[in-house]
Amino acid sequence: MRFGTFDDRQREYVIIRPDTPLPWINYLGCESYFGIISNTAGGYSFYQDARLRRLTRYRYNNVPTDYGGRYLYLRDNASGDYWTPTWQPIRNGVEDYSCRHGMGYTIIRSTSNDITTQIRYFVPLGETLEIWQATITNNRSEAANLSVFSVIEFALWDAQDDAANFQRNLNIGEVEIVDGVIYHKTEYRERRDHFAYFACSEPVEAFDTQREDFLGPYRGWHEPIAVEEGRSRNSVAHGWSPIGSHHIKLALQPGESKQVIFVLGYQENPRDAKFDPPGSSTVNKKAALPIIAKYTQRAEVDRAFDALYDYWGQLLGALQVDTPDEHTNRMVNIWNVYQNMITFNMSRSASQFESGIGRGMGFRDSTQDLLGFVHIIPERARERIIDLAATQFENGGAYHQYQPLTKRGNDAVGGGFNDDPLWLILGVAAYLKETGDRGILDEMVPFDNTPGTEAPLLVHLEHSLQYTLDNLGPHKLPLIGRADWNDCLNLNTFSEEPGESFQTASHREGGVAESVFIGGLFVIAAHEMAAITGDESYNEKADRMAETVLEHGWDGDWFRRAYDHFGEPVGSKECEEGQIFIEPQGICIMAGIGFDNGLAEKALKSVEERLATQHGIVVNQPAYTRYHVELGEISSYPPGYKENASIFCHTNPWIMIAAALLDDGDRAFDYYTRINPSAREAISEVHRCEPYVYAQTIAGRDAPTHGEAKNSWLTGTAAWNYAAITQWILGIRPTYGGLGIQPVIPSTWDGFTAERQFRGVTFKITARREGPGNKVTITANGEAVDGTVVPVPDGQSEVEVIVTIG
Ligand code: GLC
Ligand code: GLC
Repeated sequence: MRFGTFDDRQREYVIIRPDTPLPWINYLGCESYFGIISNTAGGYSFYQDARLRRLTRYRYNNVPTDYGGRYLYLRDNASGDYWTPTWQPIRNGVEDYSCRHGMGYTIIRSTSNDITTQIRYFVPLGETLEIWQATITNNRSEAANLSVFSVIEFALWDAQDDAANFQRNLNIGEVEIVDGVIYHKTEYRERRDHFAYFACSEPVEAFDTQREDFLGPYRGWHEPIAVEEGRSRNSVAHGWSPIGSHHIKLALQPGESKQVIFVLGYQENPRDAKFDPPGSSTVNKKAALPIIAKYTQRAEVDRAFDALYDYWGQLLGALQVDTPDEHTNRMVNIWNVYQNMITFNMSRSASQFESGIGRGMGFRDSTQDLLGFVHIIPERARERIIDLAATQFENGGAYHQYQPLTKRGNDAVGGGFNDDPLWLILGVAAYLKETGDRGILDEMVPFDNTPGTEAPLLVHLEHSLQYTLDNLGPHKLPLIGRADWNDCLNLNTFSEEPGESFQTASHREGGVAESVFIGGLFVIAAHEMAAITGDESYNEKADRMAETVLEHGWDGDWFRRAYDHFGEPVGSKECEEGQIFIEPQGICIMAGIGFDNGLAEKALKSVEERLATQHGIVVNQPAYTRYHVELGEISSYPPGYKENASIFCHTNPWIMIAAALLDDGDRAFDYYTRINPSAREAISEVHRCEPYVYAQTIAGRDAPTHGEAKNSWLTGTAAWNYAAITQWILGIRPTYGGLGIQPVIPSTWDGFTAERQFRGVTFKITARREGPGNKVTITANGEAVDGTVVPVPDGQSEVEVIVTIG
């Protein structure tokens, strides 16, 4: 069952009924001002950091769900009827509802009482504000006298404090209202240099800024007294809960349309120019006023929207493909790229499942996310790499997270996740292959943001690799530390205390827990270091680790997962539960381990037999049915969820890549399709999350809700699936020497075409299948190419590449 449809030409997903199984969201903003917005206008906004600079309030886990948003109420002043064109919060009779989620904007439209309202929400490029552009049309044969009420609820900046510290917060709210503009200035009198404003393009009849005056006592957002009575109170918030609400009167002739534009913005003032007049407590509005004047004009707003639309077109233009499969085309050309950009901006901070107050930028998350956007925004990828490396410790270890506002490592979480540093090498390698910018290796970057400790980025990479070698266990496999990629395999925690974080709680000393997964990852990273530096000794290190993995990490039919604190295997036939795990199969095969002796093939076959389901490949089997104190959080989840035997989608592309490396294009593509959100659109009632983006997990076969997705949007799944389909199945892979092209496509495909921007040159690729195999012959501009890498031509802006597959 579907709740909408893809409009690929417009690059939109069009939701056609408001009661989607879950709020289906989109993101506004792509630089420093951001918001999440659901298909019924729920959500909130923030500047840079969803925890520390929250502009508007949202109540996670609320009933009814998805309350707090960017709402307009319409009221027919003749009949007293009122409604919300975004369906929520009133949820009464809207007809012809649609919500178009596009790249950085959302358009919600509906009709009620013969009045059609369309609201376009977006954040203009280069600005720290959002626009709600409402077009209201009278379809009646007589004139309509309407009232429009806007409303947002201000958050008192620190979202965590805002949701908990009422004894203070209910006393500090402050606003100013001047010429119809509502200024939110809580704490501005003391240490904050920033305020928010909420403005409107039309003359304001009246306003409200105190929540209780707008809603009325004991009322919810679905029945504000001000709207019911058609009369705002001109309330001035002082303490309690500041809101912003304008009341506008609109007289529309039959068939007439009018636009009303609302602007919600964030503004900082220099500390010595905070007040106007100086010495007062009045906000200096000089910087904000021209911005408000500009964006309350329709022509400016239209121009800003077109610029945003073009900007996304340009970003998406980095790679466009045309394959025989519409789901592949749609994801590769539009939605997967878009999701990659969102994970770049948000890491794992703000979504329907991430509250914005939990996590900062993850070290391993952000380094892997790079794989999905390095070709789109290489300069910003460069900056991200430097920011991440600056949170590294001198011994090569890394802070697990850092805060985007301060860019400093997060002490509450600390380090000791022993896979973290290796991902930096993979991220930098991806950057170098894409851009050829070796200068980044010489960038001086501090350790732990401490001045005086600067070393070239290359040295950071060396320390990253050395960190693994300095932390080997009894089998000479890497020690796992607090956890490796699987945050929930906590082999040293032994937590018996409810509520303790499995990641950061006690770390039992003296253990020997080792990770086969990190062993595989090390092999990949060491090979990358050899390629970066030309130093062969890295390859030897890789080979030695590969031997160790084969010697102590092979279980007979698959790679083991780890050794626990006592040296007992995890992910082995010897185990009672959790006999096989997906991660080491993927990563060890990607590392090239077991290719010459058939073990890689064997591992892949075991994945197919034991882990693959129709909805994707689960993490482990058999699922843990009870709590294993020596394994940690993984066994805290009921079977089939999260790290305990769900389809943890991040790992599936590793198996797709493994299958491609083993020349099995049919299998690789089959796995790709099983979790492709667009291919799952038709079962939206089962999948339940948005059909246009990947979710972190899909419930595994041990769960009663097998096939149900959760934790959509902010997941490494986006970057890795993009890498799997574009680089390994379509085979368009940046290398140091040029653009590699080595497709391993399904046997039923007769080919595909692609256009890839690479180091300033457009590669126009036509791939044709002429035989059943994967052997590739290439010509570039008519000339035969030796091998599978097409060099970047000198002095040409375009290359015509013909690839024959057979
Ligand atoms: C979450 C984390 C990621 C981790 C994964 C598996 O997605 O953000 O860092 O690798 O879970 O535990
Ligand atoms: C929980 C989640 C895991 C995530 C971690 C981040 O353990 O299960 O997916 O990576 O929290 O702290």
